[in-house]
Amino acid sequence: MARKRITLKDPSRFVDPANLTWERYVALQARERERYLAERATIPQDALDYKNVSPRYLQNAVDQFANNYYSELSATHYVATAAANAPFDELKKSALFQLADEQRHLEMDREVFERARIPESDWLATWESPGTTCRFFRHLLELEDSIEILVKGNFVAEGAAGPGTFTVLADGAEARGDVLSAVNHRARIRDETRHISYGRALVKALIEDDPANLDTIQRWQDDSLRLFSEVARGGERREWWEGFLASYYKIALPLGLRPTSF
Ligand SMILES: [Fe+2]
Ligand SMILES: [Fe+2]
Repeated sequence: MARKRITLKDPSRFVDPANLTWERYVALQARERERYLAERATIPQDALDYKNVSPRYLQNAVDQFANNYYSELSATHYVATAAANAPFDELKKSALFQLADEQRHLEMDREVFERARIPESDWLATWESPGTTCRFFRHLLELEDSIEILVKGNFVAEGAAGPGTFTVLADGAEARGDVLSAVNHRARIRDETRHISYGRALVKALIEDDPANLDTIQRWQDDSLRLFSEVARGGERREWWEGFLASYYKIALPLGLRPTSF
């Protein structure tokens, strides 16, 4: 069955809320990088080498490392597809800037795996095991339509995953001696917030363009959250899952979307 596609008949309804030009984006990237390196430079060498964390912490954290790394790696693929297939230039521009952000996040998460000395042969197997974000991102990687990708990836997934849950993850990691993960999570919050806000602007424009688009977006939300709900199964991630849904509903319900039933 062909996937349902929706388009923005009047593309002028979508305006990049961050108002970025190439010039401004490059300056912003440079500032963020400087800020990140300055924060990273304050981490003591022992902490950077994961000498202060318990072996038990690392055992449990590997799932989280995989969720971080592979969601960023996936993003560099699906956002590239969204940029390549973008139906209008303003959307293409936002997607291309996001692509560069996600590449930077990917490199930060790779460093965590390496410094924690998790053998690379375990990374993918961990992500493919039950209870991770793998099912959702594999679904996203199969899509070709820019609008569907950005609604599911930016509005739903990032809208849910940040910025609230990054703060929970950062605080949790720091409390257990994993300062590098904490610095990484805090560094990406501003970028992810920008990705969410253009995703939200896109959804708002789609609904204003044609109120019937709301039904399709509702279906995309339901598909996405159900694929994600696997991460909460087992109950250990209860707090994370509740924060995840709460972050998302805060942006979705005001636009007329309804909570998903599981
Ligand atoms: Fe990211
Ligand atoms: Fe992002």
